[in-house]
Amino acid sequence: MLKTENLNVTVGDKKILNNFNIDIKDGEIHAIMGPNGTGKSTLSKVIMGNKNYNIESGNIIFDGEVINDLSTDERARRGLFISMQNPISIEGVQNSEFLKTAINARRESPVGLYEFMKTIKCAAEELDMKEEMIHRAINVGASGGERKKNEVLQIKLLKPSFIILDELDSGLDIDSLKTVCENINSYLKENPSTSVLIITHYPRILEYIKPHFVHMMICGKIVKTGDYNLAFDIEKNGYSDTFTISENEKNE
Ligand SMILES: Nc1ncnc2c1ncn2[C@@H]1O[C@H](COP(=O)(O)OP(=O)(O)O)[C@@H](O)[C@H]1O
Ligand SMILES: [Mg+2]
Repeated sequence: MLKTENLNVTVGDKKILNNFNIDIKDGEIHAIMGPNGTGKSTLSKVIMGNKNYNIESGNIIFDGEVINDLSTDERARRGLFISMQNPISIEGVQNSEFLKTAINARRESPVGLYEFMKTIKCAAEELDMKEEMIHRAINVGASGGERKKNEVLQIKLLKPSFIILDELDSGLDIDSLKTVCENINSYLKENPSTSVLIITHYPRILEYIKPHFVHMMICGKIVKTGDYNLAFDIEKNGYSDTFTISENEKNE
């Protein structure tokens, strides 16, 4: 589904991703954990085609095709989705209008208004979102948690096949985290070939959405890959100790 091959990415003259390799197959859930500033959000933005980041070399391959030069629009049309670490607000664009336009961009004929309103209201209710959020300008005056729920509302409506959750858990209270994770899990149950990349600092979200693989990322590259338990090792020992312990094990 999504693969990067020796991806080297810079911003200005600063190198951020350093021969970065990952291979995420259909239906797999991967988690990336890593210290602040290590390039996790950069990776997600590069996958989505953010033009502020330069691919110096290497490839991003989605469904067997190199997508390095595709626009963000085209990537979204093909089924890539990112829930951003800090979702922005957009004055003057109503949430429901934005979602309707995005849905229609991926359909042959426009969605009927009645069907659309029914779907969006039902999805918002499942997320425990206030109905007035649907009619508000995107994220204007929204709390951190409301913004994150809005990202998951987009997943439920746009039905992407590859989802990046960049620190979805930051800004969500305990009950809301449970609600959004339950919504994502039922989406994955209905769409089992969907792949997910979860970027997080905490194992809690991974207890709800259980990953097949956990990667530890340091200085722009993956330095260790393990299963679900690696997340708990990292929480217990921190990044540098987890890495040192595993290097020592290798040398023994
Ligand atoms: N647009 C940008 N301009 C300049 N530096 C950036 C930009 N985006 C990211 N960086 C830098 O790249 C590094 C990685 O950032 P980021 O990917 O946000 O890290 P993480 O998500 O792992 O905390 C940081 O040092 C950050 O300051
Ligand atoms: Mg980040």
